[in-house]
Amino acid sequence: MELVIADNRTEAGVLAGRIMADHVRRGARAIGLATGSSPLGAYQELIRQHREDELSFRGVQAFLLDEYIGLPEGHPQSYAQFIRDEFTSHVDFTDSDVHSPDGRAADIPAAAADYERMIAATGRISVQILGIGANGHLGFNEPGSSLRSRTRVKTLTPKTRADNARFFEGDLTQVPTHVLTQGLGTISDADHLVMIATGAGKADAVAAAVEGPVSAFCPASILQMHPHVTVIVDPAAATNLK
Ligand code: F6R
Repeated sequence: MELVIADNRTEAGVLAGRIMADHVRRGARAIGLATGSSPLGAYQELIRQHREDELSFRGVQAFLLDEYIGLPEGHPQSYAQFIRDEFTSHVDFTDSDVHSPDGRAADIPAAAADYERMIAATGRISVQILGIGANGHLGFNEPGSSLRSRTRVKTLTPKTRADNARFFEGDLTQVPTHVLTQGLGTISDADHLVMIATGAGKADAVAAAVEGPVSAFCPASILQMHPHVTVIVDPAAATNLK
């Protein structure tokens, strides 16, 4: 595992974006995207390279980690819409090449299985950008998730719903209770995992993920079992590392 302590949040985003851009320039067929606030700086760097340095995403497939269940199509906080607004509509991705689990499907387990099949049919995901929850979740694999899990429905913990209420105008009642998420096994199939964490609120989770025991109680600790991981943190998120 490579651990990079960037000078600040902006530099952390630029470094993560550069790693993703390198994979795309080297011919990645598929890349994995995360939502939430952590990867936004990386997406800004990718948008900059698209505008200024001819970085192109034509023909690249993108797979989101997760999606809320039950939000209507086009809801600004549905992850499919979020990634369009924050990243893919600003570069030359074709909408049909950007995939997310179908959180509106009538048959949710079938939608989960379909998503696994779609990823497998595309081949390997070259690089997967990741954030980390304050409770150590990866994707929406909350503590207690099986380390070999595949895409499936999960119930969000009260902590994660409270953390994400900021995206729903602070109204906890609007935050969905269930999600579809790639499993820890699915995430581990990507060639290169790049996790970005900034701010003091992530310091405990980063220390547990990087230096703690590998355990379902800190799902992000699976990073320790993967052959190619880059963790990029700012000084505040690095505070509890030994
Ligand atoms: C989002 C996701 C989550 C977030 C995590 C951190 O697709 O899978 O694991 O990465 O909740 O969220 P932020 O970055 O908003 O602190």
